[in-house]
Order: sequence, then structure tokens, then C-alpha cells
Amino acid sequence: MTSSTPTTVTAVAPGRVNLIGEHTDYNHGLCLPYAIPLACTATLTVRDDRGLTIASDKGEPWSGSLDDVEARVVTGWPSYVAGVIWALGQDGWQVPGLDISISSTIPLGGGLSSSAALECAVAVGLAGLLGQDLDRASRLHLAEACRRAETEYVGAPTGGMDQLASLLGAADHAVFIDFADAAPVTDLVRVAFSAADLTIVVTDTGVRHSLADGDGGYAQRREQCEAAAAALGVASLRDAGIDDLGALSDPVLLARARHVVSENARVVETVAALEEDRWADAGTLLTASHTSLRDDFAVSCPELDVSVAAAVDAGALGARMTGGGFGGCTIALVRRDEAPQVTAAIDAAYTARGWSTPRQHELAPSAGADLIPGDSAPE
Ligand code: GLA
Repeated sequence: MTSSTPTTVTAVAPGRVNLIGEHTDYNHGLCLPYAIPLACTATLTVRDDRGLTIASDKGEPWSGSLDDVEARVVTGWPSYVAGVIWALGQDGWQVPGLDISISSTIPLGGGLSSSAALECAVAVGLAGLLGQDLDRASRLHLAEACRRAETEYVGAPTGGMDQLASLLGAADHAVFIDFADAAPVTDLVRVAFSAADLTIVVTDTGVRHSLADGDGGYAQRREQCEAAAAALGVASLRDAGIDDLGALSDPVLLARARHVVSENARVVETVAALEEDRWADAGTLLTASHTSLRDDFAVSCPELDVSVAAAVDAGALGARMTGGGFGGCTIALVRRDEAPQVTAAIDAAYTARGWSTPRQHELAPSAGADLIPGDSAPE
């Protein structure tokens, strides 16, 4: 540490909503997430030894040392923090002993990327402590380090969309991501819903999933996609066209591949619709995505389906599950003055089935992860 590096920094990193492009990232495909105004905040304070403590408003505190991180003995939620320290250490960063304090407004396991936000808040905090830039190239590097933390350290085989959304998001914009190559290509797409008197209603079904240790559905979908690509003789489903899929004799692999190939096409069509203010077309594409995720990819559940159907019946331009599925949240694209009737219709549909009413928010595209200025104390 030099005399100009801070000893304490606070970083904030948002969760995300995925507008469209679901289960495409690990298939070298396309997606269109945006950062939301719910976020994880991490305060990192340098210690003068190799100790590491992690406290959170959501779980039991953890204490140990950097040696535990390297020995890979950290488990549970602190492993997301340890994984980031490990990944950046592998990249040559000299991470000091730290006291880390975490708080989050993102519902845990609710499909809004609470884990990616935790990873990104810690990564941005470490960048601040170590005097690293937070330019675009650095953010791409941090996103990749956080993805490695999650897949190689925590053991959740996720695809990289969530970290890029958290680190690259911007107000009134979605992040178009193309995973064709190992280094993803990204572009901001303006989605000024509020200027068009539209809003996105996010409904949290309350059904919880875990990508790391749940019923294995996420990992199984990945394997099925890889098996379908292998059967078609392509490197990934990104390289398959809809007309190629007849060569798949296994009906399950055919359905999984049909979702991925058609979803990539829907992302392209949605970007065009949003850029041309064709909101009704964008809504239709969102609902088509849900149908494909429900019927072909089989990652929906009754609570997600009921929320989507109730929203569309009540006048939403379109609606779909967002995130990995098996629970979590839906999004609905809604005219702002119709938002109350849409949220009421979803509540009524849940009540009619004897389910507790879901939490609903209007979440606009918001800023990406950053340091909170003025919070650091020079050494
Ligand atoms: C989770 C994963 C992402 C992505 C989505 C599905 O959110 O973390 O990488 O695969 O599921 O689109």
C-alpha cells in the first residue's frame, strides 16, 4: 500500500433483470440484461495481518485468513467473497488482509443476481483499495474474475451475464452481450421506458432456487445444451440454425436446442424493436420467450406462469420469467398508468390459488457498480 491508497473503501454493485436472452450466455449466445436499483454494498478495510473477516446483514459472520481462501476451505455465502479474492489473486493482485462488511437490498436467491452483485461489490472495492482503474477494460476483467469465482471457486456453473450487467449497466440502458467469443462483446442499448410512459413491473414469486446446490436443474440444462451441440456437430448451439434442429432425434435435446436458437433470434428482434420504440413488438417477444422457457426449456414453475399470464391478461404488453428459473421473478412491460391494475391482477391470481401475495417492484434500468466517493480514508 502506498501513502495515496485508501485503507477503507465502500463499493456498491447492483443486481440485474434480464430483459430477454435466457439460458443463452453459456451457449455462446446473446442476452440483454439491465442493472436495477437494488444493490449490494461492501465496505473493505485493510488489516495489518493476513486475517479476513466477512460480516453481512444476511448471514452469520465468517472469520479466518487469506490462507483459508487459498486453501479453498471457505464454504457457504462467504465463498462468493473468498472466490473473488482468490480469482484476482490468481491474476496477480496482492490482496491484503481485510475486514469486509456487506449489506444488500436484493432478495437472496430471487433471480435478481444477489450473488453476482456481492461478487462485483467486493471486486470493485478491491480495485479501489489497490488503486486499479474502473474503466471499461478493467470492468470486463473484473466481470471475468467474478465469473471464475462463481464457477471455479463456489462451484455454480453460471454463464457470465449477471456480472457483466452489474459492472457495465447504466441508467436508461440495457447491456447487449454477445458471448460468441471467450471475450464477450457488449454494447449499451437505450431503453428509456419512463420517457415512453412505460415501466417494468418485477414480481418476486417468493419461490427460491439455488444455482449452486439446488436440484441440479441449471447444471442439467447446460449439459443438455452441450449434448445437443455435440449431436449436431457444432461447437455450441450459437452455431446452429433453426432448420438444422431436425437432425436431433432426442425430443428433450430438440426442445432445449429450439429454445436456445429461437431465443438468440428474439434478442436481436427485441433490440431492433426497442431501438425503434416498437414497444408492443418488444412485449410480444418477451411473452414468446416465456412460452419457450416454459415449454421447451422447462425451467418455469406454476408461480412464474401464473404471474406472467395474469400480467398479460391485465394489459401488460408482454411478460416473462427472468433469470435462471425454477422460481425467482417475472418481469412485465406495462404502460405506467396500467401498472396498478397489473400488480393487482397478479395479487388476485395468487390469492385465488391460496398463495401469499408476491413482492412487486417497478425497477428501471440503473447505474452499474462503482465506488462510493468520499468514503475512503488516506493512510
Ligand atoms: C443465471 C446465471 C446466468 C444465466 C441465467 C439464465 O442467472 O447466473 O449466467 O445463465 O441464469 O439466463
